[in-house]
Amino acid sequence: TALGAAMPAASANAQASARAMPKDALSFPSGFLWGCATASYQIEGAVKEDGRGLTNWDVFSHTPGKVANGDTGDVACDSYHRYPEDIALLKALGVKAYRFSVAWSRIFPEGRGRPNAKGIDYYDRLVDGLIAAGIAPHVTLFHWDLPHALPGGWQNRDTAYAFADYAGTMAGHLSDRVRHFMTVNELRCFTDLGYMTGGKAPGLKLPMRQVNQIRHHGVLAHGLGVQAVRAHARAGTLVGLADNPALFVPAIESAGHIEAAKKAVRAENAMFLTAIMEGTYLDSYLTAQGRDAPLVKDRDMALIGSPLDFLSINVYTGNSVRADGSPKGYEILAHRPQSPRMSSPWLYVTPEILYWGIRAVSELWRPKSLFISENGCSADDVVAADGKVYDADRVMYLRNYITHMQRAAREGYPVDGYFIWSLMDNFEWEDGYTKLFGIHHVDFRTGKRTPKLSADWYRELVRTNRLV
Ligand code: NOJ
Repeated sequence: TALGAAMPAASANAQASARAMPKDALSFPSGFLWGCATASYQIEGAVKEDGRGLTNWDVFSHTPGKVANGDTGDVACDSYHRYPEDIALLKALGVKAYRFSVAWSRIFPEGRGRPNAKGIDYYDRLVDGLIAAGIAPHVTLFHWDLPHALPGGWQNRDTAYAFADYAGTMAGHLSDRVRHFMTVNELRCFTDLGYMTGGKAPGLKLPMRQVNQIRHHGVLAHGLGVQAVRAHARAGTLVGLADNPALFVPAIESAGHIEAAKKAVRAENAMFLTAIMEGTYLDSYLTAQGRDAPLVKDRDMALIGSPLDFLSINVYTGNSVRADGSPKGYEILAHRPQSPRMSSPWLYVTPEILYWGIRAVSELWRPKSLFISENGCSADDVVAADGKVYDADRVMYLRNYITHMQRAAREGYPVDGYFIWSLMDNFEWEDGYTKLFGIHHVDFRTGKRTPKLSADWYRELVRTNRLV
């Protein structure tokens, strides 16, 4: 069927014929993979240890005025030393998967060259510890901490090739124990937010011509990374990416609005996920950018469109979309002033996005397998007298989102797993330690981790594989 055509329920089911179906409206398919997620710079600390090279985020966080309170990832959760405790937390939750990222600059302190054995050793210890605990490592290769030594960062096309070399090295080394590799995390954040609006490292505000080129280098890095993982990893290794496409809820659940919301997903992600899943830039994107469109070399689009074994999406929030009579065919409705939000100002509570996001992405691109590589929320946690955080609002948030994910599974969309962001409170980029996403509280003075109420809730969900 043509791209953009609605997937009838019957064919959604046919696509999912290989996977188990939930047995009722509250259960998840047997074998559904529950996990938790983190990222290197946000949790590791130990930024000067064992030969780790300087990154864009070290530089950015140490630049006055860039991060709330002048916070940095210098120590963070100290997971570089406390990773056995992290593994113990995961084990106590009963989750069967952990998504973490490798710090490129621990492996190649200058971004390229000779690998640093001590950096590799750290990830060996972590992976071995996880496997011993019965937890599958899901590895993100680039979660924003870019080696500072790479000239021009993502402005330079060479960075995409350096990434591929690093990705191949790491996948070659870990694929005897790691099955799932994600190339990059959230293209829009490390390109647009780093180089266009500048809230994230390196904090630049460049003209659109350059921004589009940077976006192109981002998707190219992903494509080259897929090829490098395939070239170096063992047979049976699975490769994908963790992206955060803009996703939309149909304003009303009727055919016209559903179609409009899906159309919006395809168009609004033209420079990122759409290019990756279709191996081409939409004409509408190229035309809109005009002279600012990226410079594309011969084989680029084929590389960018390298087929994936799975697709992972980070899902937090989404606007509603309505069908209208415009040439585009849709209007994105702004959030309204009183719409509920969590602690991060961008985090509007829109549980339906998990269903509609999975559905749109499945119908548009038919991924073989789909993971929610992140979902969760920030809250202004307060530690109670007994040392615990009673984050009933986070429980409510998670329960509602996960309920909508269950609907997607029940209707046969190929969602195979879910990772909570985050295992524990950590360095939330430009918000420093002011926005906390963990289901474990971290005392940043002592490093002590304590399960929140939400961890207790998640443990039960994982145990029963069912919403109650
Ligand atoms: C997206 C990012 O991948 C992660 O690093 C961040 O902390 C969470 N979302 C929450 O903003």
